[in-house]
Parts: sequence; C-alpha cells; structure tokens
Amino acid sequence: MNVCVIGAGYVGLTTAAVLSDLGHHVTCIDQDTDKIASLQNGSIPIFEPDLEDCVQKNKSRLRFTDDLSSGLSNTEIIIMAVGTPSLPDGSSNLSFLYKAMIDVMDHLASYKIIMIKSTVPPGTNAAILKFLKEKGYQPSLFDLVSNPEFLREGSALHDMKFPDRIVYGLAEENEDLLGKLNELYKGIEAPVIVTNYAGAELIKYASNAFLAAKISFINEVARVCELFGADVTHVAKGIGLDARIGHSFLQAGIGYGGSCFPKDLKALSFTAKDNGLQPLILDAVQSVNATQINVYFEKIKALFPALSSMKIAVLGISFKPNTDDIRESPAVAFIKKLHEYGCTVSAYDPKAALPKELSMVEQTETPYEAILNADLIVVATDWKQIIGLDWKQVRHIMKGKAVIDARNCLNPALIRNADLDYIGVGRL
Ligand code: UDX
Repeated sequence: MNVCVIGAGYVGLTTAAVLSDLGHHVTCIDQDTDKIASLQNGSIPIFEPDLEDCVQKNKSRLRFTDDLSSGLSNTEIIIMAVGTPSLPDGSSNLSFLYKAMIDVMDHLASYKIIMIKSTVPPGTNAAILKFLKEKGYQPSLFDLVSNPEFLREGSALHDMKFPDRIVYGLAEENEDLLGKLNELYKGIEAPVIVTNYAGAELIKYASNAFLAAKISFINEVARVCELFGADVTHVAKGIGLDARIGHSFLQAGIGYGGSCFPKDLKALSFTAKDNGLQPLILDAVQSVNATQINVYFEKIKALFPALSSMKIAVLGISFKPNTDDIRESPAVAFIKKLHEYGCTVSAYDPKAALPKELSMVEQTETPYEAILNADLIVVATDWKQIIGLDWKQVRHIMKGKAVIDARNCLNPALIRNADLDYIGVGRL
C-alpha cells in the first residue's frame, strides 16, 4: 500500500519505519525542514534502538519530505502522528493536529483513509469529524479512524511489531474499511479491537492511567514498607505472583516520567472535570507521583544531615533507560532539588544531556568521573550500564560509602559486598 505519515517524531518515525519494513511504500512528512534534511541524509534525530537500521534497511520504500502535496499524491492511508502536548491547565494542545488535518484536507482530491495515531482525549475524533463536515469537506472523500499507539520509548519498534492489541475506533461499522486497515497491518499478529471513537481514545488513556496507577500504588506501598521495615521488592514479588495482578509496573522508585504518563494523566483528569466528573483515582495517582521525590529527599536529608555540603554523583538523567529523553524526568527533578539544596552535583548518563536550566551542574563523560571523590551516589535511572558498574572500583574512588538506589534496580548484596552502604526505596 502507499501510506503517508504526518509527523516525524517518535511515533511518526517508528510507524513509518515499521510500515515500510512490512512492505508498504511510506512517505513521512514533517514541516520541520532541518529534521527532514537530516532524515534524508540518513541521520535519525532521536535515539531509539534499531530505528536507524530499520530506516536504512527500507530506504527504497521510505522517503522523507516537507512537501505535503507531493507526499499525499497516490497515498491510500494518511496517518496523523503529530504531537498533542500539555497546555498549562493540563488539557491537550490539539492545535497542531487541527492544523495538520486542515492542510491534509485541503490537498485531498480523491478518497483516503485518515488515521489519527496522535494521543487525543475522549471526544476528539468525533469533534474533528464534526469540524471537518462543518468546514464543508466532502464526507465521501475520507474515513476517519482512531488508531492509538502503545509504544514505549526504548522498545518502540518491538512494540509496534509485536503489539498486545490493535485498536480501531470507527464512526460506524464498515467492513470495507476494516479490510483496508487489516491490510495495512498484515504481518502483525495481534488481537483486533473495533469500537467507536471514544472507546478507542479511552483504551489508550485508561491503559496509561492504569500503568501509572500501578507505579503510584507500589510507591505508596513502599512508603508503608519503610514504616514497618518491610522490603517493597519482596512485597511486589509476592503480590505480582497473583496472576490477576502480575509483576509488571510494580518497581518502586522516584516515580514515573516521560512524554506520556504525566501528560496523559493530566489530560484525562482535565477532560473528566471539563465534562462534570470529579476523578478520584486519577488525581491520587498524580499526587503520589508528584510527592514521591520529596518523600525520598526528606528521607535522605534525615539520614545525611550534612547533605547540603556534600558532593553527590547522580547516575542517570533520562526518564528511563534506553532513551535520551529527559521530558518530565524524575532524575532531572532530583538533580535540580539537590542542586537547589546546595549540594555539589556531578551527573552522568549514557545518552541523555542535562537541560539548559541545569547548565551550571557538571555532567561527566563517564560514570567514574562523576563518582570520583563523591560523598554519595544516587542511581536515578536504571540503565544497565549503571547497574553493571564495577562497584569495588566505585568504592575505591568515592569519598563516602552510601549508594542511594532511587530505582530499586541494584542488588543490595552486591553493593554491600563492595563495602558500600545500600539505601533503596522502601527496602532494607
Ligand atoms: C508509556 C507506555 O508504557 C506506552 O504504552 C505508551 O504508549 C507511552 O507511555 P514510556 O513513556 O515510553 O511508555 O515509558 P514506560 O516504560 O511505560 O515508563 C514510564 C515511566 O514509569 C518511566 O519513568 C519509568 O521509569 C517508570 N516506571 C515504570 C516505574 O517507575 N516503575 C515501573 O515499574 C515501571
């Protein structure tokens, strides 16, 4: 099939690369001319494992352009993957999506399927359809489909190739349309859920909210564990063995971050309130997450009264491993807090860089440079390069002895064996 993807961000690039790998001819369009120029030269503007190889491998079927009209000619399916960032009130900024929709509609000369992959709050697909009809665009020229994505940064290609489900939100039942959609994803094995627009939109939001709830839940349990001397990793293992609960997303730490969970929780809560419903759980999930760093910071302050005069090596800057993304990163928030408290911070990350606002904080090339003469180490992101450090060497070059495992990713026995003090989140 001939497919066009609008937006060359994480979702757009991954979608374009995997669809070309499935054998489709894909044009990926973005109005950012610099980004398109670098993509045309084979350079991928984000770090995502296997993406560069996939783009390279399929370059005969995958092209990048900033020219909408040339990109749209001959295409059968147009996939909208533009950003929907948070506005200050927590609502989603849908202006990029509306603008892109109008640009696309203005170029339509024949029937196309338009899929919205951008994450949009419940009610958006129906509102867009109504808006387009009111603007006078011929309904016979297009079908609008909601097709949310469930990609995790760091494993986006794998998640797109092996999804847990494929979701289609349709305006009404339409067998011909479903046939075309199934052709698009031919080669990907997954249960297909067909529902209405709001159903599809809510599957996306409810999934992310539920996963974030699991994290906040275990983080709250970690606080209780501290009161009674229990180890939250044992508790998580014990409850996770109940098949109804499962093991995933029960790793306590300094909270969730990234471009999705914080934004989506805010947007879902905002949309519920905007429509007269006061959400209880959604706001509790966000409150636990927002306070988790403080709770943990207070604990460290109590353990180390001289904290403000210490040199602290913070290992990890990104919001999670295998990405250079620092959006809403708890690691960055922790570094900021330590810096503002007066500590001398030296940060290290295998891929991510400190934000401009923290340019006064030192970032080192290697973990050992950050650790040299440090009084304390904080492991803020669970990169395997950090977990696998030579902890005896670490002990040798640091001044103090304490390792703060703010992600519960280290083996305490290994750390203690290196004559270091281990301090986790909600564990002994
Ligand atoms: C998430 C969803 O997983 C994905 O399906 C959706 O499409 C986009 O949002 P992503 O933001 O890439 O993906 O990251 P994810 O791996 O889900 O982690 C989110 C955050 O939760 C990270 O900061 C991570 O460190 C944290 N986390 C995750 C925990 O603190 N504990 C856990 O047990 C799991």
